[in-house]
Parts: sequence; C-alpha cells; structure tokens
Amino acid sequence: MTYYKFQSRLLRKKSGKPADIRPYLAAGLTIAGAVMFYFIVFNDRSGVVGKIAARILLNFFGRVAYIFALWLAYEGVSLWRSKNEKKWRMDFALSALEVALLCGLVKFVNVYFPAVPNYGGLLGKNVAEFFTRLFGPAVGGALNLTVFLYALSVIKDFSFKDIFHRVYDVAKRDIEEYRKVRALAKKLDDRRVASSSGSDEVGKARAKAVAPEAAQTATPPKAPVKPSAPARSQTPAPPPAQFPPAPPQYVNYKIPPLDILTPPKNSAEEEQHHAHLDRAKVLQQTLGDFGIKVEVGDIIPGPVVTRYDLNLEAGIKYQSITTLQDNLALALKAASIRIVPIPEKSAVGIEVPNPATRIVTIKEMAQADDFVKNPSPLTFALGQTTDGVPYVTDIIPMPHLLIAGATGSGKSVCIHSLIVSILLKARPDELKFILIDPKRLELPIYAGLPHLYDPSVTPDKVGIITDARKAMSTLKQLVYIMEKRYELFAKHTVRNIESFNELARSRSVEGMHPVHYIVVIIDELADLMLISRREIEDDIQRLAQMARAVGIHLVLATQRPSVDVITGVIKANFSARIAFQTTSKVDSRVILDAIGADELLGRGDMLFLPPGAPRPVRLQGTFVSTKDAENVAKYILAQGHKPSYEEYVRRDGAAASAAPVDREKEEKEKQYILSALRLVLERRRVSQDLLKAHFGSSAQATNVLSLLEKDGFIMKPEGTNRWTIHYDKIQEHLANEESTAKE
Ligand SMILES: Nc1ncnc2c1ncn2[C@@H]1O[C@H](COP(=O)(O)OP(=O)(O)O)[C@@H](O)[C@H]1O
Ligand SMILES: [Mg+2]
Repeated sequence: MTYYKFQSRLLRKKSGKPADIRPYLAAGLTIAGAVMFYFIVFNDRSGVVGKIAARILLNFFGRVAYIFALWLAYEGVSLWRSKNEKKWRMDFALSALEVALLCGLVKFVNVYFPAVPNYGGLLGKNVAEFFTRLFGPAVGGALNLTVFLYALSVIKDFSFKDIFHRVYDVAKRDIEEYRKVRALAKKLDDRRVASSSGSDEVGKARAKAVAPEAAQTATPPKAPVKPSAPARSQTPAPPPAQFPPAPPQYVNYKIPPLDILTPPKNSAEEEQHHAHLDRAKVLQQTLGDFGIKVEVGDIIPGPVVTRYDLNLEAGIKYQSITTLQDNLALALKAASIRIVPIPEKSAVGIEVPNPATRIVTIKEMAQADDFVKNPSPLTFALGQTTDGVPYVTDIIPMPHLLIAGATGSGKSVCIHSLIVSILLKARPDELKFILIDPKRLELPIYAGLPHLYDPSVTPDKVGIITDARKAMSTLKQLVYIMEKRYELFAKHTVRNIESFNELARSRSVEGMHPVHYIVVIIDELADLMLISRREIEDDIQRLAQMARAVGIHLVLATQRPSVDVITGVIKANFSARIAFQTTSKVDSRVILDAIGADELLGRGDMLFLPPGAPRPVRLQGTFVSTKDAENVAKYILAQGHKPSYEEYVRRDGAAASAAPVDREKEEKEKQYILSALRLVLERRRVSQDLLKAHFGSSAQATNVLSLLEKDGFIMKPEGTNRWTIHYDKIQEHLANEESTAKE
C-alpha cells in the first residue's frame, strides 16, 4: 500500500507550536492500562502494591476489570494516533460510560440467572440498581442493553438501522428472484405439458387442469379429439431440458500463477517523496502569503492525484481557502486542483495531479488482500482509489456492467483487466466467456482458451465472435439457454446458481452437475446496434432482467455514449456503470446521470458507479499490458485443455426460443420497413402522404414513419420540419437483407 503517514518534522519546526501534553497523556494511559492488566493477571508475581491494586480493581469492576485495563491502554494508543483530539475526548467519555454499562449488564445477568455469580463488581451492582430502581428489573435491564448498544454504534460509527435495512433488502431481493423463477418455471412447464399432451390421456388431462391459459394459446380447446396436430404445428419441440452429464474435465487444470506477470515499478515513488515535501512547503508558503496559517498534516499519494491535508488554525474559514484555488494551482504549477473538506479529520484536503501518473499493475492488484480472499470466481480487480487503496469488486451482485468513454480512454484495457482478473480466479469448468469483438482489435489474444463458450456452436468450433450477425444469433441462443437453466433449477427447486451448484456438489443426484457462470463481453456495442437495434436491445433486455439467478452476466462497452446506443432500456437494466473520460458533459450525463466524467484525465482514470450507490467513486483503472494478457493466455493454452461444454442449441432448435407471436409481428414490421425503404430510395424523399399512398392507411403510414425514425434511417433535426434521410444506411440495410435472403 502506498498510504503513508507523513510527520513533516521540517514543517513542524518552522511553525513553532508550543509542545502539547498529548504524548504524555497517551503514554500515561497506555502504561497505566498495561500495568493494571499485568497486576490482575499475574497477581502472585506483583508484590504488595500490585496485589492491593488488583483487589481494588476486581472489587470495583468485577471481571470487567480485565476489559477496563485493556480499554485504558487502547485509549492511550488511539490518542497517540488520533488526529482530532476533540473527537478523541468525546469517544473517551462515551466508552468510559460503556464500561460502566457493561458492568451493569453483567450484574443483570446475575439478577436474571442467580446461578451465575455477579461478575460486574461494585460498579455493576450500582448501575443495575440505578436502572432497576427507576424502571424495575425487566425494563431496566432492557434499557441498560439499549443504551449500551446505542453508545457502541455511536463510537464505532455504524447504525443498527442500516444493518437492519441491508438484511431486509437482501431478503426482499431473494424472495423476488424466487418468485420470478417460479413463474417462469410454471410457464415453461405448462408449455411442455401442452405440447406433449397428445401422446397420452393422462397428460391431456393434466394439461387442461394445470394450464388452462397456456392450453388456450397453444392448443385450441375446440380440438380435443386431435390434440397432437396443433402441438406439432407449433415450433419444433425443444431438446430435453436436462443437460447431458459432463465427463470429468479439467482435472489437472492449473490457475496461472502471479509470477508470470510484470512486477510494479516502485522507483518513481521514492523520487516523488521529495516532490511531495516540496509541494507541501509551497502550499504552506502560498497560503501564508495570503495571511492564512496552516500546517500540512498527512500527505496521501495516489496513483493519479496526491492529497495534502491541511490542518487549519481555529477561526479560519474553509471558504478562504477555496477562493484561493486558482492561486494555489498556479503556485503548484498544476493544471487543476480539487479542494475537498475532510470532516473526519476537520481538515481541508487539496488534491493535486501527480507530475507522472503511476501505473496500477494487475500484479499488485492480484496480490491485494481483497482480491486474494474474495471467494467469488467473478472477482474484478478494478483499480485503485485516489488514495492508492486497491479497489476490488465482484460482478455477481452487480449483476451487469456498462463501460463507456471516449476513444483511447481505457475501455479495452479495462476489459482486459476484467478477463485477466477472472482468469486468475476461475477454472474453465466454473466460468465461461462469450467474447464479442466486432472491431477484431482486442480479444484475439484469448482465442483457444478452454474458458470460451458459444451456445450456437459445438465446443470444437468456438471462438471469438467478430461478426455482428453471428453475435446476434449467439445472444438469441443464450436467451434459450437461460430459459433451460431456469427450467432445470425449478426442477430441483433451487432458486439460483449458487444453491444449484451447492446441491450438485453436496448430493450426487443422478446426472446433476454444477453449471458454470457465463460472462458475455461485448467490446463496442454500437457496432452491434447498427444491424438491428430493436432485436439486440430485446435480447439484451431479456438477458439482463432474468439472467442473474442462472449465472449469466453481461459486460457492455461502447465509445459512443449517445442515447441511440445507451438507450433507456439498456440503462434501466445496467445499474453498475463505469465512465472513462468523455468528450462532453452530455456524454457524461448519458452514462452516469451526472457530469464529472468530462473532467477525468484519460488513460484509465474512471468514475465507477456501483449499483444503488448515490455517487460514483474515482479510480485509476488496473493496467494489463498486452504482454501480461498474452502470458496468462499462453500459460493456460500450454496446458492443452480444449473448450468443452454441453449447453448448446442445435440449429433447428433455435426457432423454438422465440415466442411465435412476437416472431410474426416482427416479420411483418420488417417487411413494412423494407418496402418503405425501397420506396424512399426510389423517390428520394419521405413524407406521411407518400407512405399513406403506399400503405393505404394513415395510421399505418404513421407507424412505419416512426419505425424508420427509431431505426435511424431518417431523422428530423431539432427546429426543422423536414426529414433528413440517411441514404447510405438505407442502401446498406437493403444490401444486407438481400444477401441474407439469398442464403
Ligand atoms: N489503466 C490504465 N493505466 C495506464 N494507462 C492506460 C490505462 N488504460 C488505458 N491506458 C492507456 O490508454 C491507451 C488507450 O486505452 P484503450 O483501452 O485502448 O482505450 P479505448 O478502448 O477506450 O479506446 C492504452 O494504450 C494505454 O496506453
Ligand atoms: Mg478500445
């Protein structure tokens, strides 16, 4: 960690503050506590004085005397380390009260369970008596406990309300998820019963009894004599729900070790140490020139900015410093500085960009405690906070992630760091990637990894998906896999992948195997949207809404943070978002619903908005060099494991996934659009009247016009009343349609 406390002796000497008694008080408390503890524990080795002291303490505090002595020592140490003496005094008083209340509680135990002796001492007896006299033993005891817990929450700065809310939220989410699974499972079950009811009489009866509505849509009730005919006229029957048992795979697979990664460079840090001292002096002097006396406390260097904490003398206004922002920036020769209040230290922080940004390497991130100890296979070493602390998160609860920013801002590097983070954690049987890279720039490094997955092809043909049409069909198949998993989970009455895998591992149910997580990564969403925005959006939405429980997670990246790519539908389903540097405030708003990303420094400087968080955190992203990514991939490839999975959909089964009604409507709309586009191309203009003449009805014309606009073929610039027509896009679309029609 790069956080270090900085006792600037140089600066202290100059400021010439009178010596305070804090160190003496702190040392006194620590020593007194330690000595008392010794006397109580080693009673027979502490002489006459020690014995008497111990007896007094034990009489007064009971067994709580041990805690009292340790607490005293602890307070000494914390005074020594505390930056804010006022806050320390408050804490000291409160925790002294806690000791007394604890004695009281211990005595109450003796009151309720007389078999237990009073371990609370004289103090406990008096405290308990106090409460009892006022409120009686029952209410008094409860009150003693309540005050004790309340004071604890104040000292330790947590709130019981928050804890309660968090527990409540988790429970609520679980219940909702369970309901969704139940509903979907029921629907799927009904469909299956309905379609297989032709073969036996029992099934027929059940279909009618269990699923009256499903039977109505799928099987007309008027035809009970020949129920098999409509069942067959439906889309081809999907393959059986169960995935065939997996052979033992990847038994010898080894996760890549960290020593194949480039080590971080630390030399710059030493050099910067002096630069930090110089800047601290400049800060102090500049403010001094304006008549503001400050002392520089901690200096907290981060990868991109360094924070200098100023302790203000009493009576100096925070505003008097913020008004000097530009002067300070000038004196520090910095392009921009940020001034932040630090209430917990009652100090003012000045964030100054470092002359050279430090690269946050994947190696140091992967060595961080948070990363090593995180049990999730989807652990993501995202980067470091502005004070240089590793920030590690988990994709599972997100459950989907949106990444956006201008070209060259660090999106692809971020995707590499996600993939490599996961490769350093997860085995190929735990997790699979679907990699979609229409630009064909970044992801070829990972070709051939056993972690690759594509539900539309067999494992021997799996690869990085670069063709946008192929990507679309893969997403469609994935929706189908998702439904199959729901069905499978419902059969075993589990509600998410974690419980399913637990069950699969703990009980050797015939043919039941753990299933892998699926992470879909799309580097450049805009390129996919070009083909058919509506369809892509539909699939993404269906996956995003339902997929978390069955272990499917989506990561989308785009360099076009405009509303036609990051649509309302996508935003609503992606609550975890990363914004890299954007070119405008508008783009920042599209991604984060707030400005700020436009002021980032680029090259991995990011704002990360965790799901449900009110404000984003600023991070410097983890850097994964091409060499590191290659080394990890090579290490895995050298082990010779091939991709292997059972969950894929045969071509003929593909149609089964989409609902027939939707299909029909979609097909109709597509035909309307095609015919309208041909018309527009021929006449070189577009209008309501033209379309009305062509389609025959005014309503239909309006409908088609809005479809054309929605797909981006035509647009009406603000303030004008004429349509602008994108002929090139129309031609491209028509050409595409013709070529697929030929196939
Ligand atoms: N986390 C990072 N740390 C340091 N440099 C970075 C980081 N992320 C990106 N860069 C620099 O920025 C360049 C562009 O990043 P890239 O991810 O390709 O951008 P994008 O995909 O957004 O166009 C990289 O080649 C690298 O030099
Ligand atoms: Mg890129």
